[in-house]
Amino acid sequence: MKQVDIIGLGEIVLDWVTEIPHFPKPDEKIDAFSENYFPGGVTANYLVATARLGGKSGFIGAVGCDSYGDFLIEDFVKEHVDTTCTKKVAGKKTPVNFIFVAQGEKTIIQSPHMQTTKIECDDLNEAYIANSKLLHTTIIHQKVTEKAIEIAERNNIKISIDLESQIALRGWNNLKNVLLKSDILLPNKEGAKAITNSNTPEKAAEILVKKGIPIVIITLGSNGVLITTNEYQKRIPTYEIKNVVDTTGAGDTFNGAFSLAYWIKDWDLEKSCIYANAAASLKIQKLGARSGMPNEIELIEFLKKNKENYF
Ligand SMILES: Nc1ncnc2c1ncn2[C@@H]1O[C@H](COP(=O)(O)OP(=O)(O)OP(=O)(O)O)[C@@H](O)[C@H]1O
Ligand SMILES: [Mg+2]
Repeated sequence: MKQVDIIGLGEIVLDWVTEIPHFPKPDEKIDAFSENYFPGGVTANYLVATARLGGKSGFIGAVGCDSYGDFLIEDFVKEHVDTTCTKKVAGKKTPVNFIFVAQGEKTIIQSPHMQTTKIECDDLNEAYIANSKLLHTTIIHQKVTEKAIEIAERNNIKISIDLESQIALRGWNNLKNVLLKSDILLPNKEGAKAITNSNTPEKAAEILVKKGIPIVIITLGSNGVLITTNEYQKRIPTYEIKNVVDTTGAGDTFNGAFSLAYWIKDWDLEKSCIYANAAASLKIQKLGARSGMPNEIELIEFLKKNKENYF
């Protein structure tokens, strides 16, 4: 079996993306500027971000037995994301998300198949996880996630969690066993605020660290990210991007680049965040979750152009 450093456990979907002039009201009919489909899914995007930057990554999860599933697996192969533990589930459909992009903002309608097309606990391969360095997950399928985390913990594999607000709505009591196992939590600000019932990301991060999560990094869109540990709290601003085309996958790109920098390259938190902000800045200038994700050369060039001392 292939050895990978970064494992993503979670969702993979096909994104149907349409650019529209504005978000329509009920009963309104509008003409779109474009229609496109792209490979997507928070965890799958995350892995492609790591692989483009040179990471050895693999996906644990499932697609349906249909042409969309084949397309998504073929794309992983093209992107050098390992599919040894990617399952095609008989009788299930590959989830499709509908994404509406207007003036750089997006609305996403998630497929009902997201919850039903999945792997089972018995599908988890202990050796695959044990031979990696990092298990990253979105907790989309909680039972399987709990089992995978148990395996990671038993084998001293680092655990990283991306908490979206949709998952945070399950509530602290339902999620705490999983969240408290993380070595790092990487929520966006809505996820962080929802899980802690707080009004600001600063407060949310303090609460999460006090509860026992060692490092919390909250992404703040155009405001960059907020690092919080027991020792300090610091916001790392990001770049001013004038032509924001599509922010879908910005967080996934940030998380992927960050994971590679911090856990695999062994850089410090701040340098890793600068690198990851830069990766996300390149991503948002293209349509589609993965289209703008940089490779290492493009990313370093961007960092040098922006006179980052570290690089
Ligand atoms: N408008 C923007 N300008 C500059 N950078 C941005 C912008 N939006 C996002 N980013 C970059 O992307 C990172 C993640 O963005 P955000 O906090 O919106 O994540 P998210 O809500 O998880 O997004 P998604 O779920 O679409 O991936 C930010 O920390 C920042 O580095
Ligand atoms: Mg996100």
